[in-house]
Amino acid sequence: MIIAKTVEEIRQFRKKNPGLTGFVPTMGFLHQGHISLVEKSVSENEFTVASIYVNPTQFGPNEDLDSYPSNIDNDLKLLEKAGCNAVFLPDNKVMYPDQHVFISIKNFSNFLCGLKRPGHFDGVLTVVAKLFNIILPDNSYFGEKDYQQLLIIKKLVKDLNFPVNISGCPTVREKDGVAMSSRNSYLDSNERAEASALYKIHTKCREIAKNGMKTRELLDMLENFQKQILNPDIMKKDYVEIRNQYSLEFEEYLNSDSRIFLAFYCGKTRLIDNAAIF
Ligand code: PAJ
Repeated sequence: MIIAKTVEEIRQFRKKNPGLTGFVPTMGFLHQGHISLVEKSVSENEFTVASIYVNPTQFGPNEDLDSYPSNIDNDLKLLEKAGCNAVFLPDNKVMYPDQHVFISIKNFSNFLCGLKRPGHFDGVLTVVAKLFNIILPDNSYFGEKDYQQLLIIKKLVKDLNFPVNISGCPTVREKDGVAMSSRNSYLDSNERAEASALYKIHTKCREIAKNGMKTRELLDMLENFQKQILNPDIMKKDYVEIRNQYSLEFEEYLNSDSRIFLAFYCGKTRLIDNAAIF
């Protein structure tokens, strides 16, 4: 596995290895969720490139850019073991030496995480577009864990005609259902115990939902369920919403495309999760 810190180095690797290439962008502090994307890429491509870069343009002013966890040595070991061929490891000087052009998304950014994290998706789109242009992959792999991000990346590729196929991969979970996330490392033991609430809520949702039921009725039932299970000293709701999983629009009645989206503050850490309902 080669490690490239500059655009020239990774381009050189791609030139020498022109076969079918899969790409997995990450912000590091890797866990099995990230590695599942690498494994999928390895199984579908001749070469797999991963990137590790904590992208400053997708963090808001009061977010965790400065404290974002990092363990590059361990990340490199995990990537090598998973069969990754090259890692792009740029710094801010390489990625943003003097940036004046930014990508911005309309419509999709005024709800769910887009509403709660203004500018976040513009930062994600800008860095992913740059990474695609640097690495020139055939296929790229994104987790359903960040479902709105996955849809927005699909829009990027379609609207700006990037010749990259986007593959969505299922959320990898801990034993108690908590979606794996680099940010789980912020949780203390009490918070970690409460974090499974998100999984409990969407499991309950899938249990009681019936096709054709009023969406609001299900949301009310889930509101009551939250009162029973949440420890209000630790868990604070950011949103619980049910939307169409392709258009992300609210629909009055549940149907086969309904998906539940959740965001909670667990202590100071913001956790997200989502699941198809049927
Ligand atoms: P990061 O949070 O490091 O996630 C990198 C990729 O791993 C994303 O596609 C994310 O959806 C996926 N992922 C994270 N946890 C997962 C889990 N439990 N199961 C399956 N996949 C999971 O998302 C980002 O970085 C950044 O926004 C990035 C796309 C790299 C742009 O900076």
